[in-house]
Amino acid sequence: MVVLGIETTCDETAAAVVERDGNGAGKILSNVVLSQVHEHAIFGGVVPEIAARAHVEALDHIIERAMAEAGQTFDRLDGVAAAAGPGLIGGVIVGLTTAKAITLVNGKPLMAINHLEAHALTTRLTAGTAFPYCLFLASGGHTQIVAVCGVGDYHLLGTTVDDAIGEAFDKTAKLLGLGYPGGPQVEKDAARGDPARFKLPRPMHGRPEPDFSLSGLKTALRLEAESIAPLSDQDVADLCASFQQAVVEVIHDRLRVGMKRFRALHGTPTALVAAGGVAANQAVRKVLQRVAFENGIKLEVPPAELCTDNGAMIAWAGAERLALGLTDPLDFAPRARWPLEEVAGPKVAQVFQANAEQA
Ligand code: KG4
Ligand code: ZN
Repeated sequence: MVVLGIETTCDETAAAVVERDGNGAGKILSNVVLSQVHEHAIFGGVVPEIAARAHVEALDHIIERAMAEAGQTFDRLDGVAAAAGPGLIGGVIVGLTTAKAITLVNGKPLMAINHLEAHALTTRLTAGTAFPYCLFLASGGHTQIVAVCGVGDYHLLGTTVDDAIGEAFDKTAKLLGLGYPGGPQVEKDAARGDPARFKLPRPMHGRPEPDFSLSGLKTALRLEAESIAPLSDQDVADLCASFQQAVVEVIHDRLRVGMKRFRALHGTPTALVAAGGVAANQAVRKVLQRVAFENGIKLEVPPAELCTDNGAMIAWAGAERLALGLTDPLDFAPRARWPLEEVAGPKVAQVFQANAEQA
């Protein structure tokens, strides 16, 4: 089956066409991403209203390009998938409404996709990873440890009680006068810094619940920076290195606990899977490798362009759901908030169907 996927939940306008064969193997036919990062950079973060307008202006062309590069026409598609949340509501409305229009005109099924589910299932497109696996999702908006047991069968093991990890990187960069998005800049400066110079906290260390907290770390960093201001280039590098080292140690500790929890509840995972922009960080990857090694399982990290927001992951989640007969009605409402655990899977769909037949 061939599915078009549309992603507009944050600051990337993206569309892609993905094919899924009868054995469940996936192939990306096209994957077009237009980043709005330059439009938001002067504000030091994503401005929702600017993002929504930029999606409206760009989306038609991005879809046209994705379809052309895949050599597809709407009438040959098996379905259309769009991210229906969670995310900035203006952007979500743009993508979901566009998908609805295409499905209505062409008589195709619609799949309203949870953006987090799309991140969670990407590894099945890129590596054919079997269920159950342990997902570590770390982006600008999310930090989650999830047991992925099946399509629509997700169990949240741990999450952040305040900032997301990517957000902490972005705030650190902003504080130190580095550019946006902050993650890549902090990583670059950390490479020439001393990770042991500043004694920063490791929040939540040793706690029995695999949750994260990043805001105390951010505050500690600000106090250190203020106490030695004005900052030299080397000070900035040392602060970046010390911050990144703290984050890496926090991830190590929290994931170890998460992995223990996973085993107790779901048995041995087939893999530790990383997703989200933070997985692009080499120091983070190294510690994930370590956690996987300690657990005797492999680490799967999709290629960088599929770790960050893209249309292929939406199309793929759409194809996985379509293969199970999980489609959505045209009045499906866009959602700013939509926890992964509230995503309906085959079991819930069967109950709905049985109820409908009884009525
Ligand atoms: O998944 P993503 O592209 O977008 C969403 O937030 O959904 O993730 C972007 C986040 C940003 O906070 C960015 O600073 C962070 O991922 N990031 C990194 C790196 N590259 C991107 N964080 C640390 N190190 C990096 N190399
Ligand atoms: Zn994302």
